[in-house]
Amino acid sequence: MLASSAAFRRALLAWYGKHGRDLPWRHTRDPYAILVSEIMLQQTQVATVIPYYNRWLQRFPDFRTLAAAAESDVLHAWQGLGYYARARNFHALAKAVTNFPTVVEEMRRLPGIGRYTANAVATFAFDKSVPVVEANIARLLARLTNLQAPIDSAIGCESLWNCAAALVPKRNARQFNSALMDLGATICAARQPKCQICPVRKFCSAVDPSTLPRKRARPSLRTMIERHSFAQRGGRVLLEQSTGRWRGMWILPHLPNESKPARALHRSVFPFTHHRITLCVHRGLSPSTRTRWFSVSSLDSIPMPSPHRRALVHLLARRQSAN
Ligand code: ADE
Repeated sequence: MLASSAAFRRALLAWYGKHGRDLPWRHTRDPYAILVSEIMLQQTQVATVIPYYNRWLQRFPDFRTLAAAAESDVLHAWQGLGYYARARNFHALAKAVTNFPTVVEEMRRLPGIGRYTANAVATFAFDKSVPVVEANIARLLARLTNLQAPIDSAIGCESLWNCAAALVPKRNARQFNSALMDLGATICAARQPKCQICPVRKFCSAVDPSTLPRKRARPSLRTMIERHSFAQRGGRVLLEQSTGRWRGMWILPHLPNESKPARALHRSVFPFTHHRITLCVHRGLSPSTRTRWFSVSSLDSIPMPSPHRRALVHLLARRQSAN
């Protein structure tokens, strides 16, 4: 542990006063809005999240509006952020709460709210003195303490939470936790940390910061091919409502994996969890009980996952230029 937590906090807060980021969710104390930001930020970069966050709050300003929304509208507002389980779980949570709790233990009982999210809302909405450890803070604390255990192991993870708990002040926890995040994001960067200008350098035990944090070996990426069809008729296209990973969203209709169709009209690659998926789109009509014709002008208003929307935009543009 640090010799002087108080001196560390002072140095960090002085830096934050000058260099902290102005982020939209720092202008509110509304637990709903803070929760929106935290759920979006779970797997997505700040710069990507900002426009989504602003649009979401206009469309669904509170728990009640979100609870009353149709799932397709919720998925549509989330479209492009990926990891749609986050949107579905959040929608379910909105339906389950009327008054959001102010106490961490009660937040933890809500569906889909873990230690990080509960503590983040408690600190950013209510200024509670609780630790938060997300990716930026994890990296910063792993370096600060020269942690050799992998941060995604049980031991490494507990060590980070204990360290964050020992550092968080009784007062001004909101500022302190925001400052840790910003220092991690901007100075204690994953690649090429800016140690020369780090305000807490003298507290740092890292011997070789570029090798930290350590992580467990990742499972290797598996490659997969997925085949879909494209059919257009008089300004309409055939789409299928997914029952799989994009449940409820509209995609190009599946072709059975064993089918050996003709040359692909479109081919693209996208990542999905531990997979690298090649999307191949072939000319063809594959109607089923889950397919529907959509006018091209209505496509903007329906939820579609990004890889399929990009393929469709590409295919429609090609057809236009061929006419
Ligand atoms: N990452 C996770 N939560 C965040 C927040 N509130 N601000 C900036 N980055 C974050």
